[in-house]
Amino acid sequence: MKALVYHGPGQRVWETVPDPAIQDPTDAIVRIDTSTICGTDLHILKGDVPEVEPGRILGHEAVGTVVETGDAVTTLEPGDRVLVSCITSCGRCRFCKEGRYGLCTGGGGWIFGHLIDGLQAEFARVPFADTSVHKLPEDLTDEQVIFLADILPTSYEVGVLAGRIEPGDTVAIVGAGPIGLAAVMTARLLTPGSIIVLDIADARLAKAREFGADVTIDNAQADPLAAVMDLTDGLGVDVAIEAVGVPETFELCAELIRPGGRVANVGVHGHPATLHLERLWIRDVTITTGLVDTFTTPKLLQLIATGRLDPTPFATHRFELDEMTEAYDTFADAAATNALKVVLSGHPVHLPDRERALAAAR
Ligand SMILES: NC(=O)c1ccc[n+]([C@@H]2O[C@H](COP(=O)([O-])OP(=O)(O)OC[C@H]3O[C@@H](n4cnc5c(N)ncnc54)[C@H](O)[C@@H]3O)[C@@H](O)[C@H]2O)c1
Ligand SMILES: [Zn+2]
Ligand SMILES: [Zn+2]
Repeated sequence: MKALVYHGPGQRVWETVPDPAIQDPTDAIVRIDTSTICGTDLHILKGDVPEVEPGRILGHEAVGTVVETGDAVTTLEPGDRVLVSCITSCGRCRFCKEGRYGLCTGGGGWIFGHLIDGLQAEFARVPFADTSVHKLPEDLTDEQVIFLADILPTSYEVGVLAGRIEPGDTVAIVGAGPIGLAAVMTARLLTPGSIIVLDIADARLAKAREFGADVTIDNAQADPLAAVMDLTDGLGVDVAIEAVGVPETFELCAELIRPGGRVANVGVHGHPATLHLERLWIRDVTITTGLVDTFTTPKLLQLIATGRLDPTPFATHRFELDEMTEAYDTFADAAATNALKVVLSGHPVHLPDRERALAAAR
């Protein structure tokens, strides 16, 4: 099969690799029908995630079709259409039993395109298939559900729910990339009184307004603290969501909140940030951090199915899987291409042979 292989910092190649095979009885093999690229894949390519070894197939977001199941898999069968999300769950460890799958200590958590081969490929091996994939209703398109694989549950769980947004709250979201925009989209489910989005790129601020931001602030041009205090009668916002991942934006979020306010950090940080306890200790603030668990994925899927949530505006560019190199170039140059998410569709050409071979093997 073909797959996008990481060969060390700066090096990625769409190349022929061996087909994946069942290794454990709880595995399934999934044909990738739709995949996408994440900002985290770009971090890996910069060498920021040293656990990813050269030779690793990247990607942790896909919609696919089950083509083979291990002997212990009981709830899936070939032909089932499933969401394969960024988080895998062993279903047995303490954290999985608490619904905190991102912290799985039984071999799950974020493993695709990180610790095991990922989903930017024609096929993938999916461990703990019964407890990890989500079966999809037939009437939803891949494009309607693919963003449930990462950005929607991430922003909803680590931003909106961790920040305990309530109806009427004033919310600031710092960073308007896919994660910040998914925070805008899912915050609206809780009817905040007002959403203020801050970014340094005008094109991203324009997107934020399209996604439903009430006010946008270019914090490279205007003093963001003064602007937000102006908008909140000098009090600050109820909730600030950090969706960039640099020290300045975390420190800004801690300044933007009112006494008793909440900062929900979603950004992945590579450098230490300063926590101004000398100012914050008396202000009753709450600061949360986290990796997505995906415990909200079934409910978000339900909202898509009932037409109350439409993530399709995230899809700005479409490619075939075979055009992976071009898709990466487009996604990585978002300043020029205005890309939010690229949608990669599986190439049907090689599939009939593979399916015949699998059927013969069964
Ligand atoms: N916690 C999790 O589970 C999780 C999961 C996925 C992604 N993330 C992280 O979320 C963050 C955002 O992801 P993304 O894909 O949207 O990234 P992105 O790079 O596409 O978007 C970041 C946005 O921040 C803006 N920005 C940069 N510097 C800024 C500044 N000083 N002030 C205001 N805005 C600024 C950029 O213009 C851009 O629009 C990343 O750090 C990513 O790694 C976390
Ligand atoms: Zn991701
Ligand atoms: Zn577990």
